[in-house]
Amino acid sequence: MQDQDNESRSLTIRDLARAKQSGRPISMVTAYDWWSGSLADSAGVDCVLVGDSLAMVVAGRETTLSATIEQMIYHGEIVSRAVQRAIVFVDLPFPLQHLGVGKAIESAARILQETGCQAIKLEGTSGQQDVIAGIVEAGIPVMAHVGLRPQAVHQLGGYRIQRDREQLLADATAAAAAGACGVVLECVPSKLAAEITAAIEIPTIGIGAGLDCDGQVLVLHDLIGLSIDRIPRFVRSYADTKGTILDAVTSWRQDVESKKFPAESETLA
Ligand code: KIV
Repeated sequence: MQDQDNESRSLTIRDLARAKQSGRPISMVTAYDWWSGSLADSAGVDCVLVGDSLAMVVAGRETTLSATIEQMIYHGEIVSRAVQRAIVFVDLPFPLQHLGVGKAIESAARILQETGCQAIKLEGTSGQQDVIAGIVEAGIPVMAHVGLRPQAVHQLGGYRIQRDREQLLADATAAAAAGACGVVLECVPSKLAAEITAAIEIPTIGIGAGLDCDGQVLVLHDLIGLSIDRIPRFVRSYADTKGTILDAVTSWRQDVESKKFPAESETLA
């Protein structure tokens, strides 16, 4: 969203609705700490997501299932302080959206109060419609997440493309009816993502869901080429940060070993 008027002020979820209406693509990227939040915000993205993917990217786990609400709050608070303009979303970690509407509202409210973020994201099917509606009713903006739901990876049989048209349409429609401010579509065939995008009034943010979504989201570490492994086919890396870091640290180690670091000018008298 590059309107002159929008350049300096903080964005809100109303800007996401406006973007859908005007056809302006929405950008969302993950961040888990101060530097990534600050840089993503300086790059002008619309939304910064403190995703539960931190369990995989930061902690090196196989799935997102180990992320706890305390971890989400710790990282969410850091990122929320770093970001001035973009909307900060923090993921509701497993299994808090499945423990009843009251528990979900209490958890979402805790995330909002203790991090200073503007909204939460939660993974769910049409079965979570009442949960989304309850959180929205409490005044907390919710982004839904349908298609490949990493928190349900074992139930879904792995990180696979989701093709069940009826189910996906029902899930996205239920999220919109419940008052969600948007819906992430993960690993959905592009034609189906386009159909869902046309069918609902709230913005769709795609990841592995083609060009016809209302916006795109990527994991920052994939985008900047810093991921160690598990890079999905739909990712485009715009930099080789891993290579840059490896080269820098290797050069420094070699300078230490050959007594070339520190130089005279880097030595304190
Ligand atoms: O946790 C996360 O980073 C996500 C994105 C991949 C959409 O949910």
